[in-house]
Amino acid sequence: MEAIIAVLPGDGIGVEVTAEAVKVLAAVAEHFGHRFSFPTAIVGGAAIDETGTALPDETLNLCRHSAAILFGAIGGPKWDDPRAAVRPEQGLLALRKGLGLYANLRPVKLSAGLVASSTLKPEVVSGVDLIVVRELTGGLYFGQPSRRWTDDSGRKAVDTLIYSEHEVERVVQVACDLARGRRKKVTSVDKQNVLSSSRLWREIATEVGARNPDVVVEHMLVDTCAMQLVRDPCQFDVIVTENMFGDILTDEASVLAGSMGMLPSASLADGKLGMYEPIHGSAPQIAGQNVANPIAAILSAAMLLRLSLDCPAEADAVERAVQQVLDEGYRTADIQSADTKVVGTCEMGDLIASRIARS
Ligand code: IPM
Ligand code: MG
Repeated sequence: MEAIIAVLPGDGIGVEVTAEAVKVLAAVAEHFGHRFSFPTAIVGGAAIDETGTALPDETLNLCRHSAAILFGAIGGPKWDDPRAAVRPEQGLLALRKGLGLYANLRPVKLSAGLVASSTLKPEVVSGVDLIVVRELTGGLYFGQPSRRWTDDSGRKAVDTLIYSEHEVERVVQVACDLARGRRKKVTSVDKQNVLSSSRLWREIATEVGARNPDVVVEHMLVDTCAMQLVRDPCQFDVIVTENMFGDILTDEASVLAGSMGMLPSASLADGKLGMYEPIHGSAPQIAGQNVANPIAAILSAAMLLRLSLDCPAEADAVERAVQQVLDEGYRTADIQSADTKVVGTCEMGDLIASRIARS
């Protein structure tokens, strides 16, 4: 097949890890007889430096005309001034909104052999296999008003948590569809004891659950969920939640998998277009040193193959190659342990690309 895969490396280690994911996708194309092209565009801090905006029109247009988007990471101390009018993060949020990427899938699976990399006890994390579906285009991140002002009583600021029925319904349905192919359990997470938006969320989630009788939809308060994720993470199959709760819970959940450097994600719209990115950030403190872990970006490329290009065998081949390299004892610095061989970003990408094979 032929496919255009837009590559948006962004800032910091985003540049290094997307290069390795492209390397692996090129190996897939060669082995499976596909023709992928990888046009690159700027976003985030890199785009602010060059154009003054975090998401130039050309970048958004390229994404609209591509089969899928491979995204690196954005941000860094250079653009961190809280008073700045443009921020790198605006680029990411504008992409999510502009492309209608409302369902953010963040699988958390502990690879065999990485149990020692987690800070949690082996008996707690062994066997973890959950996926968080984070609502990505609503809630506090986009609600209006969102602003800051000063009046007689001093400085004030407001953000708004708003959800419509339709926004909740479609994302909970995505969670139910995913659960159907897994252990058939959805945990819908809210704060209904305090927030009106959460009471609406729970009501709609219950209705969607009733329309999906083969899936069990349970409800959990977000504070309880934060606690249960580290107490007994194996109880979870699919978690679905609003934008900011999902942001916080997925950073917490990443600890279960040993390192942020292991976790991929997919952001999906209706239809086949998707944006795929590691869940880690731009890690400016290690950028440019060839030490970042490219596995999250490479596993994101596997999700891209499976979900946007309908290439499940190719996606399996990437995931197998990653597991094989880990089984052989190769590790980047973030996941090293006794008796492992530490390699750099580029070498890890080479190793994985060289193990791509048809089964
Ligand atoms: C994430 C990140 C982003 C978010 C930032 C960079 C805007 O933390 O994708 O989880 O908060 O959504
Ligand atoms: Mg986050």
